[in-house]
Amino acid sequence: MAGTQSDETNTLFSPYKMGKFSLSHRVVLAPMTRCRALNGIPRPALAEYYSQRSTPGGFLISEGTMISETAAGFPHVPGIYTEEQVEAWKKVVDAVHAKGSIIFCQLWHVGRASHQVYQPDGGAPISSTSKPISRRWRILMPDGTYGIYPEPQALKTSEIPELAEQYRRAALNAIRAGFDGIEIHGAHGYLIDQFLKDGINDRTDEYGGSLANRCKFLIQVVQAVVSAIGAERVGVRVSPAIDHLDATDSNPLTLGLAVIERLNKLQLQFGSKLTYLHITQPRYTAYGQTESGRPGSEDEEAHMIRTWRRAFQGTFMCSGGFTRELGMQAVAEGDADLVSYGRLFIANPDLVLRFKVNAPLNKYIRKTFYTQDPVVGYTDYPFLLRSHL
Ligand SMILES: Cc1cc2nc3c(=O)[nH]c(=O)nc-3n(C[C@H](O)[C@H](O)[C@H](O)COP(=O)(O)O)c2cc1C
Repeated sequence: MAGTQSDETNTLFSPYKMGKFSLSHRVVLAPMTRCRALNGIPRPALAEYYSQRSTPGGFLISEGTMISETAAGFPHVPGIYTEEQVEAWKKVVDAVHAKGSIIFCQLWHVGRASHQVYQPDGGAPISSTSKPISRRWRILMPDGTYGIYPEPQALKTSEIPELAEQYRRAALNAIRAGFDGIEIHGAHGYLIDQFLKDGINDRTDEYGGSLANRCKFLIQVVQAVVSAIGAERVGVRVSPAIDHLDATDSNPLTLGLAVIERLNKLQLQFGSKLTYLHITQPRYTAYGQTESGRPGSEDEEAHMIRTWRRAFQGTFMCSGGFTRELGMQAVAEGDADLVSYGRLFIANPDLVLRFKVNAPLNKYIRKTFYTQDPVVGYTDYPFLLRSHL
């Protein structure tokens, strides 16, 4: 199976060589927005939070981080487009490195999943389309209430290259801040996904219509960041089968394959592999709580993931509803090289240790996912007691 590194059965705790990075295990911190970076500046609480979740040879992906001032759609998410932000991130990255972990910065633009209150000039958010997100979804406002997504402004064809340029500059800033690499957030109904999905993208120019056209923006972003920091520091995240924020596609399997085919081709052109491909599955229900997305049948999902995994020529990471056992199984059966964990990692700063010794897990508290307290629901989840070991 592509990407596996020995004939012996791999486990979540086997080392893995992810390009130039040597990982000591495969339990990855999934990127997660936590709204603790007041006014876009990472503060000391972030250093504490990420450091708590660091292990020697571990791999962390930062929360979605704004590439420019039009990129935000949540309160108090960090940015990586000003000097002040870069300087503040350095302290977070240093804290993670001090514990021996590797950390990538997830580069994020929410596109139409924003609101005038988050836009610099109070204007409409930008997107591939001028269709708003339906009222099935609500946007979290700065005062903690929920609002309605406004009508976005469809980008003109001539404006799109500037967006790719914003990703490029943000990638350079991330490297200056000390990050080991970046992840392009192409998932979950945000800007790049708004181009990829035929349920959203209604463009009639070279960025809409055919699969090739819908993939074009993502590919331009990948080319832009790779030109700046090199393929071996770039991961890509997509979620072809997730319909969060109305991001539906008429054929997720084919869309995923179209993205993969193009990434494979780019790798050949670059003469170097991307760090990884990271796919979120809609199987969010695995431990009892539906998040979003259409939970397909288990067989359907497994078939898609295996097809994508086999097609991608490089490191493959999966995410979405994984328990310890499901992660063990995915790695042992060669369905993934790495597994990223979200909610379980929020509630268990020492998740890697708990998984290793098969210890009980703390339960996550949903109501503090997106609140601003620098401690409560953020860095106050308990570590294992010695008596558990
Ligand atoms: C509070 C919260 C914030 C999240 N923020 C992001 C984000 O910023 N970027 C992203 O790509 N995914 C984000 N996700 C999705 C997670 O990365 C992950 O894929 C998802 O939670 C499924 O994994 P899990 O079942 O292990 O939680 C978020 C999830 C949660 C629960």
